[in-house]
Amino acid sequence: MLKVKDRLIVALDVDELDDAERLMERMQGLVSVYKLGTQLLTAAGPEAVQRVRRRGYGVFYDAKFHDIPRTVGTAVAAACRQGATIVNVHASGGKDMMVAAAQAAEDVSKKLKQPRVKVLAVTVLTSLNQKMVDEEIGLKLKLGEQVVHLAKLAQEAGLDGVVASPQEIKAIRTACGPTFIILTPGIRPAGAALGDQKRTMTPGEAMAAGANYIVVGRPVVEAKDPAAVVREIHTEMEAALL
Ligand code: C5P
Repeated sequence: MLKVKDRLIVALDVDELDDAERLMERMQGLVSVYKLGTQLLTAAGPEAVQRVRRRGYGVFYDAKFHDIPRTVGTAVAAACRQGATIVNVHASGGKDMMVAAAQAAEDVSKKLKQPRVKVLAVTVLTSLNQKMVDEEIGLKLKLGEQVVHLAKLAQEAGLDGVVASPQEIKAIRTACGPTFIILTPGIRPAGAALGDQKRTMTPGEAMAAGANYIVVGRPVVEAKDPAAVVREIHTEMEAALL
């Protein structure tokens, strides 16, 4: 069973490598996997991955790839060669695209004789709500149904799990079983600003609902004392698991 320290992933959503280094410095010993998103990956991709790996942490390479299967396969392979330990793709890219991603992760991990890089699929972004999905995206299914539909497709494609809102954990767990990884952003400690996130829960609620991992960005990164916020979140996660 993983400790809460291994289940809280902090998003290093900053512009510069120095800021990322400072944050890791301040959270030393408290976090074991950091998420690199398109903000820092676009600015400093391979170097950012190296800096996190050099400190001994895992890297969730959150590029949310969404392209034709060959392009996604080659991009996932590149991320794996750089040192990613988790990568993600958009499930809405389709099954063939997800199969290509899973195959690439498998091939590179084998070649480098390293633990297999996990591949997750983003279902429906946590910044979208039902109204936006109906009026802007034009989905046929209800949002919750769409999430479960894409989670099942990701599982069929051989992916390790999904990125989803904590509000959908229970439905995904029922549909995809106990070993399927559910990683949830859209986490807000009580009283924290929502920002652009819509389908949110607190860290304790997400753990109680069965999240394997939670991802937190702004509430930690923008805090005066990021380490203190991480410790508070750990305490809340632990209490929820008792
Ligand atoms: O600052 P906040 O806690 O909202 O950050 C959440 C992080 O998780 C961001 O880096 C965002 O890109 C990422 N993410 C998300 N929703 C998804 C997938 C990833 O919010 N479905």
